[in-house]
Amino acid sequence: MCGIVGYLGSKNAYPIILEGLKRLEYRGYDSAGICLYNGNKLISNKSKGKISKLEKRISKLKTFHGNIGIGHTRWATHGEPNDKNSHPHSSNSNDIHIVHNGIIENYSAVKEELINKGFHFHSETDTEVLVNLIEYIQIKENVKLGEAVQLALNQVIGAYSIAAIDIKKPDEIVVARLGSPLCIGVGKDEYFIGSDATPFLDYTKKAIYLKDGEMAIIRNHKPTQYRKIADDSFTNPTVEKLEIDLAKIQKKGFDHFMLKEIFEQPSAVIDTLRGRLRLKKGIIKMSGIDDFIDKFLSTNKITIVACGTSWHAGLIAEYMFEKIAKISVEVEYASEFRYRNPVIDKSDIVIAISQSGETADTLAAIKLAKKQGAFVYGICNVVGSTISREADAGSYTHAGPEIGVASTKAFITQITILFLIAVKLGKSRGVLSSKQFREYIYELNSIKKKITKVLSSNDKIKKIAAKIKNATNCLYLGRGYNFPVALEGALKLKEISYIHAEGYPAAEMKHGPIALIDKNMPSIIIATNKLYYDKILSNVQEIKSRKGKIIAVVFEGDKEISKIADYTIEVPETIPALTPFVTTIPLQLLSYHIAVKLGRNVDQPRNLAKSVTVE
Ligand code: G6P
Repeated sequence: MCGIVGYLGSKNAYPIILEGLKRLEYRGYDSAGICLYNGNKLISNKSKGKISKLEKRISKLKTFHGNIGIGHTRWATHGEPNDKNSHPHSSNSNDIHIVHNGIIENYSAVKEELINKGFHFHSETDTEVLVNLIEYIQIKENVKLGEAVQLALNQVIGAYSIAAIDIKKPDEIVVARLGSPLCIGVGKDEYFIGSDATPFLDYTKKAIYLKDGEMAIIRNHKPTQYRKIADDSFTNPTVEKLEIDLAKIQKKGFDHFMLKEIFEQPSAVIDTLRGRLRLKKGIIKMSGIDDFIDKFLSTNKITIVACGTSWHAGLIAEYMFEKIAKISVEVEYASEFRYRNPVIDKSDIVIAISQSGETADTLAAIKLAKKQGAFVYGICNVVGSTISREADAGSYTHAGPEIGVASTKAFITQITILFLIAVKLGKSRGVLSSKQFREYIYELNSIKKKITKVLSSNDKIKKIAAKIKNATNCLYLGRGYNFPVALEGALKLKEISYIHAEGYPAAEMKHGPIALIDKNMPSIIIATNKLYYDKILSNVQEIKSRKGKIIAVVFEGDKEISKIADYTIEVPETIPALTPFVTTIPLQLLSYHIAVKLGRNVDQPRNLAKSVTVE
């Protein structure tokens, strides 16, 4: 959802900003641009397309360097992706340039006012409106960039993180955030700016995460000033030590980040369990739960809010929590929850699940829940992310950086945390006996091996992908714990291959989707659950008798369904609550190989962004 990078120091800013933007490309990749102060004037270069295209353009220039600059990689909101709508945007005088991540909601009213005052616009973006509002205020109030930015931001409604430079004050960069992330890397006599810390990991491990409603005037001639946007009060932010491992954000010989991340799942699960699953002691240690155990024991209802893949993890948790801990659970799309006047009060627990910890709808949902008195628990992957900070307590998934836009290892680690919570609460609430508790945690402990076994079917799955890659529609069916897996499988296929797919509870097939089945429509059926085996077998026969092609995910040694299905993918047997761990992975691999065979851009599928920080 747009990435922002900046640099201020004595090095050449161009390669730092360029490489930084490449690391943020997961946030958006439909256009990119960089603006530098070259010691004399502001020079800007931007274009539609990926950062590599911008790099090629700039490589043709004789010079493009400076010690101060800002850069942007875009995921279009206002205005189609084209050169004009690319960032940085400049003011009418060309003095001020800004990059922006977010949405200015009242931009058309502000634009109209500015047009009446003689301003003109070249793009359709809200950002160009903001930069001209800053300029208008600067001239009218006769103030410096920092004050003009502050005054302008107090007039706009919306979400933003911005970085601005001004030729009249070329030794400073003004940054601000509200609703979109922004952090500042602190080096020796130099500063870095990023939507996250990855752009500057090579240079410094010290970072300041701006809080919502804060801004900074970063300068190299005197100390940087941190203050609130809403008033003139100063803030004193903490410098945090970054613990992100640079190697973890590289492809390590895999063709795509997505494939690397799929194969990282066994170790990601171990990282999630580390320190939490204590087999010898027979306990699950999770300070976020332990410290607030009274709340978890007294609540009657847990509401889970999330979007996309994280919402699917929430749906699996609904089955886990209700079966294992006997707690009533509702799972809500955060975007619906936030506008639905939900009946939530201080006796409620709201769990927000988010890989990025920045999804605007999920953030708004937890703000609403907190306002209504609920206790908010965050399950995030990105350490220090906004949702993890806003939540009253929470657990990090520790999946490591996930770069591929389609979420894989984040999902598996989310369900790991959710399973831990379910079992822990089951025990604490007296629902599970010690014996049952031990059975659950021992099975969980063996899941890494089982996931690794599933990954060994990669070549077989690749061959199946070749057989169905030309389908234009696919149906994914599952029951119980595997119904959300069917939804997730369908989502993965849509996201990266652009093939239309639908996930359905298998029993619902007869209420509609069966009408779609013919020889051109593959059905991917998850048939591992013993409880529903016979019922799913009937579904398989129903599809077969209508000439549908069947790809079945079954337990090793399956007899019946394997006989009827066109292709089977065997996964190791486990308990029902843990089947999503072994059944999701073949579906991730299937989507991956189909997308590769279709020549899709697997890591950066069209129209998507990894982190959606606007509504
Ligand atoms: C975007 C991504 C999805 C992701 C969803 C929620 O749509 O493309 O992959 O599942 O946002 O993201 P979150 O970071 O909140 O889990």
